[in-house]
Amino acid sequence: MSERWTPDSWRSRPVMQVPEYPDAKALADVEAQLATFPPLVFAGEARNLKKALGRVAAGEAFLLQGGDCAESFAEHGANNIRDFFRVFLQMAVVLTYAGALPVVKVGRIAGQFAKPRSSPTETIDGVALPSYRGDIVNDIAFTEASRIPDPQRQLMAYRQSAATLNLLRAFATGGFANLGSVHQWMLGFLRDSSQSRRYKELADRISDALNFMRACGLNLESHPELRATDFYTSHEALLLGYEQAFTRVDSTTGDWYATSGHMIWIGDRTRQLDHGHVEYFRGIKNPIGLKCGPSLKPDDLLRLIDVLNPDNEPGRLTLIGRFGADKIGDHLPQMIRTVQREGRAVVWSCDPMHGNTITSNSGYKTRPFDRILSEVKSFFNIHTAEGTHAGGVHLEMTGQDVTECVGGARAITHEDLSDRYHTVCDPRLNAEQSIDMAFLIAELLKQERGVQASPLPVAAGL
Ligand code: PEP
Ligand code: CO
Repeated sequence: MSERWTPDSWRSRPVMQVPEYPDAKALADVEAQLATFPPLVFAGEARNLKKALGRVAAGEAFLLQGGDCAESFAEHGANNIRDFFRVFLQMAVVLTYAGALPVVKVGRIAGQFAKPRSSPTETIDGVALPSYRGDIVNDIAFTEASRIPDPQRQLMAYRQSAATLNLLRAFATGGFANLGSVHQWMLGFLRDSSQSRRYKELADRISDALNFMRACGLNLESHPELRATDFYTSHEALLLGYEQAFTRVDSTTGDWYATSGHMIWIGDRTRQLDHGHVEYFRGIKNPIGLKCGPSLKPDDLLRLIDVLNPDNEPGRLTLIGRFGADKIGDHLPQMIRTVQREGRAVVWSCDPMHGNTITSNSGYKTRPFDRILSEVKSFFNIHTAEGTHAGGVHLEMTGQDVTECVGGARAITHEDLSDRYHTVCDPRLNAEQSIDMAFLIAELLKQERGVQASPLPVAAGL
């Protein structure tokens, strides 16, 4: 790895998962235009997130990261964003209450558009076309014209990200996220369910605690941490030309930051040590993630850590394991031991989605809720056995009532999948499954934390 880094030094490396744009000049023009646009996030915010993740690395906080597999232009709307944010806040409250520790909230949102694909082409009824690579690259419709990469889409993705982030900032700081509103967030539950009853009970307890503090004379209105929340954005920084255009120097430190999102991560398919993605990531100062799949050897992981976090800065690097429920036991313990032995500070996170995808008989890609939960449980058990902190989870989820993952408390069946299967890429947990998962993870977190954590309400019938 050469010493000199520039925002475009990745261009002299091999790069995987690159779309084939037919018109290089049109692409270069768009990238030049993007480079003049305002940044989406600020370096100071990215530094705050890095500090918060540093506390996760030290075992003092928990990371909740989640959102769509891929955002889409068609589904861009205020209700979608609100519903996602509300479910996400509910999950965070459940985890905070159970674990009695701060939850660092990071959405897969406001920039999560580009998708790596396992095959460059998709074949339907004998017709092969270039694969769909996310709305920032091409269109999902299965026609030749739709699948041609179009650089103009990067401008659309930027503008959608800016609008999404604008609303999220308003929600996070403008009163919606006020802890006193825990009951209002309930409105998201359309139907009476065991999760809604359980959540209501938890909200009652939080309200009681707030009332108690008020009665003791505390002026809660003067505590910004109760009225607003810190919410951060993240995405897989796959499309390096786009990322380069938003790589800016922070005037206060002179350092380079990716300003397309607070945290960005490297996917499992693009983490080759000498390739373009690792080269790009090593030069920016944001907190970053690295997806770790079953093919990553512990020694190769160490070499990647050398390059990506040479100063061993806590909070800089989050390792997001995505092994699969049946494989995590074969890989994670060894990784933890290697990283511990070398004294590297990392956040350990678990993506229980990407290693647990199956194809249903009906042809839909799906993920069984039980397998997702099983990988999360193993993640906690392994960390307990190794004496390390199960730092966080990384979920594909939505605030909508979709039918994409089978199972959960309402037991979505394989036959149900066709009802409301809306994802443009991988299957997501729906709103109820997400809350359900949060309560189950909360139990695990409570066990890890021991007696000082608060007991959770028990759902009727559970
Ligand atoms: C993703 O997070 O959507 C993804 C493609 O993950 P991975 O790189 O782990 O397969
Ligand atoms: Co995905």
